[in-house]
Amino acid sequence: MLTIHDTADLRAWVAEQHRAGRRIGLVPTMGYLHAGHLALVEASRRRADVTVLSSFVNPLQFGPTEDLARYPRDDARDMAMAREAGVAVFYQPTTAAMYPQGGAVRVTPGPAGDRYEGAARPGHFEGVLTVVAILFHQVEPDVACFGQKDIQQAGLVRRMVQDLHWRVELVVVPTVREPDGLALSSRNVYLSAEDRGAALGLSAALGEAHGAWVAGERSARRIEGRMQDCLRGFRGLQIEYIALLDPERFVPQDPVDAGSVVAVAGRVGSTRLIDNIILNQGVR
Ligand code: PAJ
Repeated sequence: MLTIHDTADLRAWVAEQHRAGRRIGLVPTMGYLHAGHLALVEASRRRADVTVLSSFVNPLQFGPTEDLARYPRDDARDMAMAREAGVAVFYQPTTAAMYPQGGAVRVTPGPAGDRYEGAARPGHFEGVLTVVAILFHQVEPDVACFGQKDIQQAGLVRRMVQDLHWRVELVVVPTVREPDGLALSSRNVYLSAEDRGAALGLSAALGEAHGAWVAGERSARRIEGRMQDCLRGFRGLQIEYIALLDPERFVPQDPVDAGSVVAVAGRVGSTRLIDNIILNQGVR
């Protein structure tokens, strides 16, 4: 595995892959890798000859009161995990290299980026799309992998690719969970043992939604009611939203359909957590 920090070195490597006719896969991350990230690497390796994993904590996507300064990092461990997973290039650029002029020009997501996560985190998706656009230009991937865990992010990247006429193939990989259902996240390290118990409310409520769907329930209002009942058992979890959504437009849907998204967000102490399922797939 090569470790590349410099954008010119990356460009040279990319040109070499093109000359050799190799398909490039990209897995964008903010580091502090876990099995969810590695599932994206696996998906990329199935579709590409060489995989670039980028590790960059992107300041543009953090709000002024968010956890940019304390975002967890462990480069040595990340590199070992990436090497083990068969990554060809561990790409870790500096902020100065990514935004040499300060990053004034942005990619804006449009109205779908203003709802849910976009409403809770103003400017967040603009920062995400801008960095993903830069990475797409630098890495020139044939295929790029994103996690279902951040389903609104994946949907907005898809919209960007369509609207800006990119020809990269996007793959959305199912959420990897702990055995008890908690979705893996770099931010789970912020959770104490007690917090963790409260955080399980998210996947439990999604399991309840799936159970209702399987039993034939199609009313979004009643499914949400079932989820609210379930969440009453999880003290310490403050729900920010429960949303039953059209998967393309990310607007509320009632009744729901196979393919509808059930998304939840909440806080345990100062840690904000999100999770979702696609109704015909459940918590898997
Ligand atoms: P990060 O939170 O590091 O996540 C990197 C990728 O891993 C995202 O596509 C995310 O959806 C995916 N992922 C996270 N947890 C997962 C899980 N439990 N199962 C499957 N996939 C999971 O998302 C970002 O970074 C950034 O916004 C980024 C896209 C890199 C832009 O800065």
